Amino acid sequence: MNYKIAVLPGDGIGPEIVEQAVKVLKAVAQKYNHEFSFTEAPVGATAIDQTGSPYPDETHRICMESDAVLFGAIGDPKYDNDPKAKVRPEQGLLAMRKKLGLYANIRPVTTFPSLIHKSPLRRDLVEGADFVVIRELTGGIYFGEPSGRSENGEKAYDTSIYSKEEVRRIVDLAFDYARKRNKRLTVVDKANVLATSRLWRETVQEMVPDNKEIEVDYMFVDNAAMQIIQWPKKFDVMVTENMFGDILSDEASVITGSLGLLPSASVGIHTSVFEPIHGSYPQAAGKNIANPLATILSAAMLLEALDLTDEAAAVRKAVDESMDQGVVTEDIAQDKAASTSEVGDWIAGAIS
Ligand code: IPM
Ligand code: MG
Repeated sequence: MNYKIAVLPGDGIGPEIVEQAVKVLKAVAQKYNHEFSFTEAPVGATAIDQTGSPYPDETHRICMESDAVLFGAIGDPKYDNDPKAKVRPEQGLLAMRKKLGLYANIRPVTTFPSLIHKSPLRRDLVEGADFVVIRELTGGIYFGEPSGRSENGEKAYDTSIYSKEEVRRIVDLAFDYARKRNKRLTVVDKANVLATSRLWRETVQEMVPDNKEIEVDYMFVDNAAMQIIQWPKKFDVMVTENMFGDILSDEASVITGSLGLLPSASVGIHTSVFEPIHGSYPQAAGKNIANPLATILSAAMLLEALDLTDEAAAVRKAVDESMDQGVVTEDIAQDKAASTSEVGDWIAGAIS
């Protein structure tokens, strides 16, 4: 089969980790007789430097015409301490999500037995933890209007807005995930304080009769933040609004000890985007030391989304083998570390 894949390396370590995932996808294409055509396009700080826009129209066109998007990372320290910067790399990511209609961000939180010693939590708490955080990605306080500053600059405001329709489509997807897994769904909100959260809860309650086989529970976000640390194994599927999901998914990602290994998918109306959950790690950019596994596993999620399940399984198997053999980057190496490109070469070779 022939597939078009848009490749958006972005900033920092983005280009070098994405290069490894592309290598792996090329090995898959050869092995399984597919044709993947890759089209690279700029996003983030790189795109600002080249075009003035963090998500140029041409990049959007390429994404729209592709079957999937492989994304690296976004962000550059030169913008972080400049609160007055007119255009920021992160706006590119938000624009991409909005324009592609990517209303759901899916972050599987899984443990890798060989990495549990890296977890900040006790082994017995985290061993076997396996859940999915589903974050609403195109609504809430990230996008609500009005947002801005008062005329004299002394006040600032953001607005959180959700419609029932927006809640329904993400919760529908979360119910589907729960059905395929252990049939438990935790809805995280702040319904004791926020009107939007009460709308979420009401909407979910209306959906419960059509999803009787799923056990639903509701949890306030502060309590959820605590329970993720205290009992990570009790969760199956968690669904929440944009900002709560941003925070909880970062929290969830570190408890497994494998931040550099966790992939994500953003799905919705148009082309889906697959990306590692970690950031652009500018300190490591160009050094060939960053861990490419999260991006390679994002490529595996991409293959699954194209219904190429055997191919995805082959990628996951090769990743497991690379860890068993100790062909890993310095962040997880026990003794001698391999470079970013060596890990990519090894995994591509194992697939071939
Ligand atoms: C994420 C990131 C982004 C977000 C930033 C870079 C805008 O933290 O993808 O989780 O807040 O959504
Ligand atoms: Mg985040």
